[in-house]
Amino acid sequence: MAEAPLKAFVCGHPVAHSRSPLIHGHWLALHGIDGIYERRDVAPHDLAGFLAGLAGAGYAGGNVTVPHKQAAAALVARRDAAAEAIGAVNTLWFEDGALVGGNTDAYGFAAHLDAEAPAWRAARRATVLGAGGAASAIVHALAEAGIAEIRVVNRTAARAAALAARFGEHVGGHGWPALDGLLADSDLLVNTSSLGMTGQPPLAIDLAPLPAAAIVADIVYAPLETALLAAARGRGLVAVDGLGMLLHQAVPGFERWFGVRPTVDAALRDLVVADLEALR
Ligand code: ATR
Repeated sequence: MAEAPLKAFVCGHPVAHSRSPLIHGHWLALHGIDGIYERRDVAPHDLAGFLAGLAGAGYAGGNVTVPHKQAAAALVARRDAAAEAIGAVNTLWFEDGALVGGNTDAYGFAAHLDAEAPAWRAARRATVLGAGGAASAIVHALAEAGIAEIRVVNRTAARAAALAARFGEHVGGHGWPALDGLLADSDLLVNTSSLGMTGQPPLAIDLAPLPAAAIVADIVYAPLETALLAAARGRGLVAVDGLGMLLHQAVPGFERWFGVRPTVDAALRDLVVADLEALR
């Protein structure tokens, strides 16, 4: 009898916008793997039941996206170190029959910067805009890279302070008015806020105070070239878009479920860019 195909999923609510099926479908075809990666729209009140039924439904694991990342962290049997630090789970797999939750967002961010702007690892001071779930993953990545001073700047200063407090003394929280002063000695600036995303207000900040060797990264990838990145390039700074993080964060999950470590290459990037453009 033929073996059943390996199965994985992305669960969210809504989930129609997720690019994960396109990414994993590309790798499944490329590697000739008899596998399935599907979208599952799961309402918040159904999440616990959905996760409890994964093994019975034949899933090797899957991805968790908005709004379930924090809730999933509380529902798994155990978490990897990144999920523990970030307080959110985006990747699920089984170990000895137990459901494990990991977080590959920080890995994805770091892997993309390693490819596009390797000098980021020498940064001494980094400034992070935003204090939501995405900021938590980015701060974890920066802390893991050993960046000595990380400043979280947010519209709601109390949220920045709360995030900073979770990470210890090398991370500080600030309100927007502090931004200009902080930019002046920032080696790295990362936008994790939703500003600049299609349908959201633009991120209108003056990059003039940034040092000439600063790196600017945006985790927004729709549009791919945000006003922030365009302004950074206009100033001659290294600018890193948000799409690479999305592509790289998918690598560890694919390897766990399907047994092959895939690579992020130009063909995959072109595929996702074309999909984003088709929606514009
Ligand atoms: P995620 O989990 O994806 O990071 P989130 O928790 O909703 O999403 O966080 C969105 C971030 O964008 C927050 O830092 C938010 O600032 P507040 O904490 O003050 O809400 C920021 N953000 C969203 N809209 C904004 C706006 N119009 N001006 C400034 N910051 C904004």
